[in-house]
Order: sequence, then structure tokens, then C-alpha cells
Amino acid sequence: MSRRNISASWVLSLCMLAAPAAAIAQSSQLAATPPMGWNSWNHFATRVTDADVRGAADALVSSGMRDAGYIYVNIDDSWEAGRDAQGNIQTNKKFPDMKALSDYVHSKGLKLGIYSSPGPQTCGKYEGSYQHEEQDAKTYAAWGIDYLKYDQCSYGKIIQQEAGNDHEKAFAMQKDSYDKMYKALKATGRPIVFSMCQYGLNNVWEWGTEVGGNLWRTTGDINDHYTRMEQIGFSQAGLSKYAGPGHWNDPDMLEVGNGGMTDDEYHLHMTLWAILASPLLAGNDLSKMSPETLAILTNKEVIAVDQDALGKQGDRVWAEGPSEVWAKPLSGGAKAVALFNRAESARPITLKLKDVGFGNNAKLRDLWAGKEVTATNGSYTVLIPKHGTVLLKVSQ
Ligand code: GAL
Repeated sequence: MSRRNISASWVLSLCMLAAPAAAIAQSSQLAATPPMGWNSWNHFATRVTDADVRGAADALVSSGMRDAGYIYVNIDDSWEAGRDAQGNIQTNKKFPDMKALSDYVHSKGLKLGIYSSPGPQTCGKYEGSYQHEEQDAKTYAAWGIDYLKYDQCSYGKIIQQEAGNDHEKAFAMQKDSYDKMYKALKATGRPIVFSMCQYGLNNVWEWGTEVGGNLWRTTGDINDHYTRMEQIGFSQAGLSKYAGPGHWNDPDMLEVGNGGMTDDEYHLHMTLWAILASPLLAGNDLSKMSPETLAILTNKEVIAVDQDALGKQGDRVWAEGPSEVWAKPLSGGAKAVALFNRAESARPITLKLKDVGFGNNAKLRDLWAGKEVTATNGSYTVLIPKHGTVLLKVSQ
């Protein structure tokens, strides 16, 4: 089964009012910084089992990733069976006892996430939550679930059948389907992070907070190739104003360590996601990680950029052809500044400190190299490999 089973058809976005402040304040208790953890999909897809999830929880602890902030252990699609006579969702034989799994994950100081769809079927054709939203939310709470990824999938067909070409109705239906699950989760009284996945349709960043989204996918699926990761990551330019504590843009999970990119490309992936204040959900097999993969995923200074308490997403500040500079404001007045080389060969890139709001005397620290560097006459020039990056912290 392909995990790129949904091709997001971008539809006309409707003009929405800004999210009410109350909705934002309410959701800021959860996901005050971008959620960090692991998700089964990118590596295991529909093969994931209870043993794999326990293995991931064990590895998060033994590798030091939990202590670096990776707290959520998220089961993606393919845990579901049908429903019993009372309509209660059942797990399939790969997940014999969800409550026991949840207890295990919690005993490691981690949190457990699960996956469903507002449609009758998930994208992998497993049972969805359609017309069972409240019942499913109660089941998740009883199992001790802490995070729900809610993926539009077959609900798109229901929208199509009921709304046809009526875009306004289609949009209202989509919004309602997320609102319904948000309210059902809330009614359980258990804090459950609500992760919206509808591929960025209808400019979800403009209204995701209104339906309780703590994060929302802004794009179709990532895969483990540089061209796709680059396309998704750099397409986030201009979205920074929609993110903040409790509500994040989600350009999809990490592919770091899955083997389809070079280490330079994985550094660029991690750097861009940190600059974007993106959720950091590792998607690799944690039981077989190279030291380089672990180093990329757990660099403390890079994670601190993503997790900065100010909760500002970064944005592009300068580009010339394939050379780009992006900046993210940090608490205390510093900025994280990333220099990206999207070209097919190494090239020098120059940061002009005034372009990121600093004078000639600013202090520069190269976060991947872990050392101070110096600007000359307000400029810092560095040779960057093909598809590579340099991440700086600039402060006064
Ligand atoms: C896709 C989703 C992926 C994954 C998959 C599972 O729609 O974007 O992240 O969850 O479904 O079937």
C-alpha cells in the first residue's frame, strides 16, 4: 500500500475571520511548544504492531531522545478492527490490548497517540470514526490516549456526495467534522492533543484554532526524498503568522534516518523544521539508528530553536536563486538564522546581519558545529555543500 494514497486537491479557500482569542487561549494549555515524539507511519506504514510501538518507546528512553523532548509515541493508521455489537471500536490482532500498551508507554514517562478519520474508513481502509465520534473519544480516554491524529481520508467522499460543487457547504462540512471530534475529546475531560490532517485544504491555518486544532497539516504527504521534503518545507514561507503556542503549522513528520537522503539533506530537513517551529515527530526505525541520525535528531541547540518558548514560527527573509536565508525570533531578543543551499553544488552564502535586524557587533553561534563564529563588517560568508545548511543563533 502506498503511503501517498491521498493526493490533496487544492480547492478555493474561503475568506475567514481571524480565530477568536478565547479559542487560542483555551488550546494553549496543550502543545505550548510544537509536539515532539515518534510516529509509526513513515517507517512501518500498515505493518506496525504492538511490539514495534513498545520497541519505539524503549528506544526513545535508551537513546536519550525522550530526555531531549521526544515524548509522544504515536500509532498511525492500521490498529483498527471493526466495532462490537454496541458500536465500540475494536483493535485488530496486531494490537491485542491497547490499555496495556498505553500503560506500558506511560510507565516509560512517555505519552501515547492514536489515529482515526472523520470518515467511515481511514486512508488505509480501516474503521474510521464517522457517526461514532463521541463513543470513540470516550474509548480513547479510557485507554489513556494523549494525542489524536484525525485524517480526513474517506470523509472527502462524503463531502463530495453531499456538497457536490457547493464549495461553501463542502467547507462547512469539513470544518464541522473536525469540530465534532474536538468537542467529543474535550467532553472526556482528558487532555488530548488534537492533530488535524486534511492536507492544508481550505487554508486550514486560517481556521484550525476555531475547531480546536493544536496542529494542522499544511501539505500532502512527505516522503523520504530530498525533492519532496524540500518542496514541502520551503512552501511554508508566509505561514508564520498562523502559528503560536497551542496551535502549530504541521508540514508533516520527519524522515531523518530513513535512508533516502544524504546526511546534509537530513541536516537541512531538521534545520528547516526547527526554523518553522514544526512538530518534530521522528519517523524512522528507532531500534536501528546510526550515530549520525541520533546526532541530527537530538542536537540540543537545534531542538531549542524549535521549542523556543516565544512560539514564533520563522520565515524567509532573503533569497537569491537557490540560496536562502530564513529567520526565527527567539525569546530574549535573539534570532535563529538558517542559510540554505538548494543548489546542486557547493556555494558560498553570505548573511548580512542587517537583513535579520542586527548591527555589526552581533554575536554569532553555529549551532550544528557548536561554536562561536565571527562576522566581518556586518557580513558572514560560509561555503555550504549541495542541499546543505548552516544554522546560526544571532544575538546582540
Ligand atoms: C495519509 C496521511 C499520512 C498517514 C496515512 C495513513 O492521509 O497524510 O500521514 O497518516 O494517511 O493511511
